[in-house]
Amino acid sequence: MLFTPFNFVDHPYVNCYLLAPCGVLPAYQGHGVGKEIMEASIEHLSSVGTDAVFVLGIPTFYPRYGFVPTDKQTPYPDLMSTPEAWMALELTEGSLQKLSGKTVAIPQFMQPHWWDTSQHG
Ligand SMILES: CC(C)(COP(=O)(O)OP(=O)(O)OC[C@H]1O[C@@H](n2cnc3c(N)ncnc32)[C@H](O)[C@@H]1OP(=O)(O)O)[C@@H](O)C(=O)NCCC(=O)NCCS
Repeated sequence: MLFTPFNFVDHPYVNCYLLAPCGVLPAYQGHGVGKEIMEASIEHLSSVGTDAVFVLGIPTFYPRYGFVPTDKQTPYPDLMSTPEAWMALELTEGSLQKLSGKTVAIPQFMQPHWWDTSQHG
């Protein structure tokens, strides 16, 4: 499970992270590992002043941990064919309301194919 900085170009002081990738080895899936890591990660991110966390992923998994679908932009909004897969978790009350406009992930994630959800509809 990896969290990297995620920025809204016009709101550089709102402290956001992107969760990607997220995975548990197949042999260990279904035994509470994902839940434990999700809860511990969110608690840690909150304790270090993170305002919001974003994820592009399974719409039935992340809502268990407070993520909700968001209309904030991904770095490649034209490739977003399954909007319910793009979710946000607000850790600082009111932070999401402040955010709008263009977003940028770290260079490794600024590749269109990572954001194309057309194969996951
Ligand atoms: C999704 C994943 C990270 C969950 O980890 P895990 O250790 O198997 O999950 P847990 O056993 O801790 O389950 C936590 C809860 O999530 C649920 N859950 C697990 N996988 C789920 C899935 N794919 N979709 C929806 N809910 C899921 C479990 O039923 C459990 O619910 P409960 O708390 O009500 O009992 C893991 O299955 C995985 O790596 N899958 C393959 C890669 C993947 O799909 N990653 C996410 C990409 S966005």
